[in-house]
Amino acid sequence: MLDFAGVNVVRGRKRLLKDIDWQVREGERWVVLGPNGAGKTTLLQIAASRMHPTSGRAGILGELMGAVDVFELRPRIGLSSAALATHIPEHETVLDVVVTASYGTTGRWREQYERMDQRRAFGLLHEWGMSTMINRPFASLSEGERKRVQIARALMTDPELLLLDEPGAGLDLAGREDLVRRLSELAADPEAPAVVLVTHHLEEVPPGFTHALLLREGAVVAAGPIGSTLTEANLGATFGTPLEVTEREGRYTAVARRTA
Ligand SMILES: Nc1ncnc2c1ncn2[C@@H]1O[C@H](COP(=O)(O)OP(=O)(O)OP(=O)(O)O)[C@@H](O)[C@H]1O
Ligand SMILES: [Mg+2]
Repeated sequence: MLDFAGVNVVRGRKRLLKDIDWQVREGERWVVLGPNGAGKTTLLQIAASRMHPTSGRAGILGELMGAVDVFELRPRIGLSSAALATHIPEHETVLDVVVTASYGTTGRWREQYERMDQRRAFGLLHEWGMSTMINRPFASLSEGERKRVQIARALMTDPELLLLDEPGAGLDLAGREDLVRRLSELAADPEAPAVVLVTHHLEEVPPGFTHALLLREGAVVAAGPIGSTLTEANLGATFGTPLEVTEREGRYTAVARRTA
């Protein structure tokens, strides 16, 4: 799904990503953790084929960035991020927000596909608990409702790779728990695409996610199977503060370690 080797991103004097080596295989569910400014969104932008590395090789779905038409690649990747949500017109309905994700990929068969598209969009909105709100303007939704619509939109093209940049941001406790449960169900679905979820919060790691990548100042601190990667030592180094980490039935929590 993803095969990054020595990926660097440089802007001015700043190295946003430093020599990133990273492989994501089919069926894997990754969480990417790191503090503000670590480079998580930058990494996801490359994975989404929306940014080129300054140097290094970024393999995406078997294609090499720079050697492939990104407009053929993008429908194969579902992306949900706060930045994308700001581009949604204020009065666009929930159903249209999801349906329009497939525009540009069906071309001249548009009319024939319209009904099928609408049915698929409705099905996804139903799965994500939004079927009663399909005619509401997107702008009128709560933060939690918007996040679910955005994920439905990201799944609309039936992508091979699903990238979620902080889907839990701005949610209240019940909203977060609802999202974690839904993402955990997605993780357990063998038909679901490979998933990469970016977050700052260990509490948002859905049970069933298989791998973790820890980023600090643009560099990988640790990467691998989730159980052996989300350790106190690795997380302390990632966030730059000593942490006490607990795990129970796949749910993680972290608090600052109290100094004696
Ligand atoms: N065009 C640019 N020029 C210079 N610096 C940039 C540019 N774009 C991003 N940065 C910087 O790169 C760093 C990484 O940004 P990025 O958005 O990838 O971090 P992040 O891990 O997603 O952070 P957050 O958790 O706050 O979303 C930040 O310090 C940011 O200010
Ligand atoms: Mg970010």
